[in-house]
Order: sequence, then structure tokens, then C-alpha cells
Amino acid sequence: MIPVSEPLLDEQALSNLQEAVRTGWISSEGRFIREFERRWAEYCGVSHGIAVCNGTVALELAMAALALPVGSEVILPSFTIISCAAAVLRTGCRPVLVDCEPETWCLDVAEVRRKITDKTRAIMPVHMYGHMADMGPLIELQREFGLAIVEDAAEAHGAEYQGRRAGGLGTMGCFSFYANKIVTTGEGGMVVTDDAKLAEHARNLRNLCFRRDQRFLHTELGYNFRMTNLQAAIGLAQVERIDDHLVRKRRMAAHYRERLREINGLRLPVERPSVKNVYWMYGIVLEDSIPINAATLGARLREQGVDSRPFFLGMHEQPVLRELGLFADETYPVTERLARRGLYLPSGLGLSEAEIDRVCLAVKRCLV
Ligand SMILES: Cc1ncc(COP(=O)(O)O)c(C=O)c1O
Repeated sequence: MIPVSEPLLDEQALSNLQEAVRTGWISSEGRFIREFERRWAEYCGVSHGIAVCNGTVALELAMAALALPVGSEVILPSFTIISCAAAVLRTGCRPVLVDCEPETWCLDVAEVRRKITDKTRAIMPVHMYGHMADMGPLIELQREFGLAIVEDAAEAHGAEYQGRRAGGLGTMGCFSFYANKIVTTGEGGMVVTDDAKLAEHARNLRNLCFRRDQRFLHTELGYNFRMTNLQAAIGLAQVERIDDHLVRKRRMAAHYRERLREINGLRLPVERPSVKNVYWMYGIVLEDSIPINAATLGARLREQGVDSRPFFLGMHEQPVLRELGLFADETYPVTERLARRGLYLPSGLGLSEAEIDRVCLAVKRCLV
């Protein structure tokens, strides 16, 4: 089976880990944490990095650090992972959805403007599968309406918008370092920001809001969202390889494009002129001319030894959110289509061109 993803770990990661074990720095203090935070923030072009235990809590921590009034509205795409809506809800805010663009699969910025009300306090763009959302107009809306932007850059490490890296354009940027991400720590995440006050608040919230003057006196309720030095040991070795990882992802995408573009009825990932797409996962969408849906294609690919994953199911179609009384009667046609017609193909960092050829042949066979 050609897996959908696999990490690429090196000797440096192993030797960093050995150092952490040998020196006993295995919890959330240690040089790798500090160094990883510094290097990742610098890579994103901002001053502060707050490492946490996964990408889901990175979003929650960013939302908590903003400390928005209860009932504030946060605009986010319907097409995303549940982590985004969960972060908004768990911090007492209300998720307001917008549909996504059929080409980039990122939130539709024109619709964001239409959804702004006097309760809107933040926008949470999600950079889908390696392509960045249209940040320029979002930053204009941010200025016009005094909003915060929490970028979800979990899937877009190293992606660029007009030369600026994902995560570094918003008020805060959030990352996941899960094993399938371009930079991994196994499980892990980070919030990055240029705002010193927000960084300080996020740092405190991450660590139970222990006070410096009297450790066990608490004046705010925090979380234990800490990353371990063991995770950061791997992360630091990974940051050093990111340029190589990005070259691999872009080469993989070019090869897929070359092989798949001759198949009628497939919509392939795009790269807008203002964006550098890092093709975290190579997604394809079946057009109407293809008689099967993505689930059937996925099952057929599996029979041929090729793994794949369906695209996200929209937030407005999630029973757990509908039961909260959210999104009643709302429809987001692009999201609904992507959820049924989209899937991503093997995109691991170690994928060879011969394997991509095999995947493409399998896709062709499944569709004829
Ligand atoms: C867009 C997006 N946001 C957030 C997350 C959550 O990250 P984690 O799995 O590290 O909690 C993911 C996970 O893959 C993701 O794809």
C-alpha cells in the first residue's frame, strides 16, 4: 500500500533526542523548546513562538489569548477541520461560516465581508492543503473593522503570500506539527505572533497561569498545553530540513500535475500568482462528468494498493455542531461539493516518482 503520508526523520533528530534523554530534560523545559520556538517564529517572520502539544490547542490558545468578549463572532470557512470551530466555541465565541473558493479551497473573502456584523471580532482563515487564503483583502477588512486575524497555517508550513510566510501575516498564526505535516514533532503545535502582549498572555495560559511572584496563586484560569523538550528536539532538526521538504512537495506536485492533467474530469490544485503553494497534500476534485464520488474512488484506489483521504466534511454538516443549534438551514454549496468529490492522494515526503506514476495509473484505471 502506498501510504498517504510518512514523515522524513534524520540522524539529527535522533541525536537531539539522545541529548534530551541523556541530560534528563524531557518535560517542557530545555534548550530545544526555546530554540525551536525561536527558529520557527523567525522562519515565519515574527518575534514570538509559543510551542504547544498539538495544532488543535494552538488554535484554542490563540483564541484564549485574544480574550474576546463572550458571544463575539468569529468568521471561519465551512470547509475546514473541526479544531477551528471547537477553538471558537471553547472560548465562548460564536462561529460564523463562509463558503470556500472552488479553485483554492480557501475561504471566500467576498463572503467574509458580507458576514461581518457589529459582533464580529475575528477572522480565522485556513490555508488549505498548502495554498494560502487571500490574505490581502482580509488584512484590509481587519484594518477597516478592527478585527483580529487568527491564521490556521497547520497545512501550509513555508507557504507564501506576496513573499510573506504563512502564519506571519495575521495577528496570530497557528501550526500543527503532527506526523503528516511538513515539519513534524510527532504531536505538536505552535502559536506565533509579533504582538509581545499576546505572546505573554499565550505563554501564561499555556502553563496554567502560574504567577512569577507567587507560583500557586492564580488570577486567571490557564491550561496545560505545554510541548515537551523531546518533541522540540525532533522539531528543531525538522526546521533545519524545511527547505528540502518544500522542494520535495513542490516536485511531487509538478509530477502529479504532469501525469494527471491528461485525465478528463479532474480538477487539480492551483497556485495563484500571489501565492507559493507548498502542496502539503495533493488534492483532486472530481468534476460532474465523472460518474463516481470521492468515497468510491478512494475504495477503488485502496483495492489497487493506493491509500487516500477524503476531503473535510463542512462544519454546517456536523451533527455535533447542529445539535448546539448552529448553522440551521445554512448551505455552502462549494464545501458540500468538495466534501463529496474531493480526496487527496499519497503525498509523503519520501514518495518516489515511480510511486506517483503508480498512483496516477491507478487513478486512471479507477475512472475508466
Ligand atoms: C487545518 C488544520 N488545522 C488544525 C489541525 C489540528 O492539528 P492537530 O492534529 O495537531 O491537533 C489540523 C490537523 O491536521 C489541520 O489540518
